[in-house]
Amino acid sequence: MATLDPMVQFRDDHRNVRDGLLDIMDALKAKDVGKAREILGGLDTLLGPHFRFEEEALYPTLRVFLGEYVDELLKEHDGVIETSRSCAALLEKDSLTDEEAETAAHAARSLLVHVSNCDGLAILSERLKPAELDELGAKYEGAIAAGVSMLQWAETIRNR
Ligand SMILES: [Fe+2]
Repeated sequence: MATLDPMVQFRDDHRNVRDGLLDIMDALKAKDVGKAREILGGLDTLLGPHFRFEEEALYPTLRVFLGEYVDELLKEHDGVIETSRSCAALLEKDSLTDEEAETAAHAARSLLVHVSNCDGLAILSERLKPAELDELGAKYEGAIAAGVSMLQWAETIRNR
């Protein structure tokens, strides 16, 4: 039996990502590129197992409720990965122009929308059976133990 409650972990991840994105927006406002880069790196680490859990375990399980809408969720992930990739490239610079800082802050805000949308899946997951939730917990644990960052996973393991 899994020791991890998948929905507690799922929502905790979202809270951490929400806070990280808001902190990135603050850092960009203060023109602290180093800090924004560091926070984005932390989010990349956290989001690898999270996205992997969602795509390999949660989304297939939720297909029973959501049907083809699951494909939209996958497309949304494509967008998040693309945005994170360009944001990470931008933040590799030592300093940003006003326009670049604005672009990065806009990207962080668009990711915030995904966090809010994704957290809504928790209400559907409440209708899953205990055995399904247990299985999700085990898969979440596996993804966390594997510890592959989001961008790394997208490049090497994710098949899209
Ligand atoms: Fe999520």
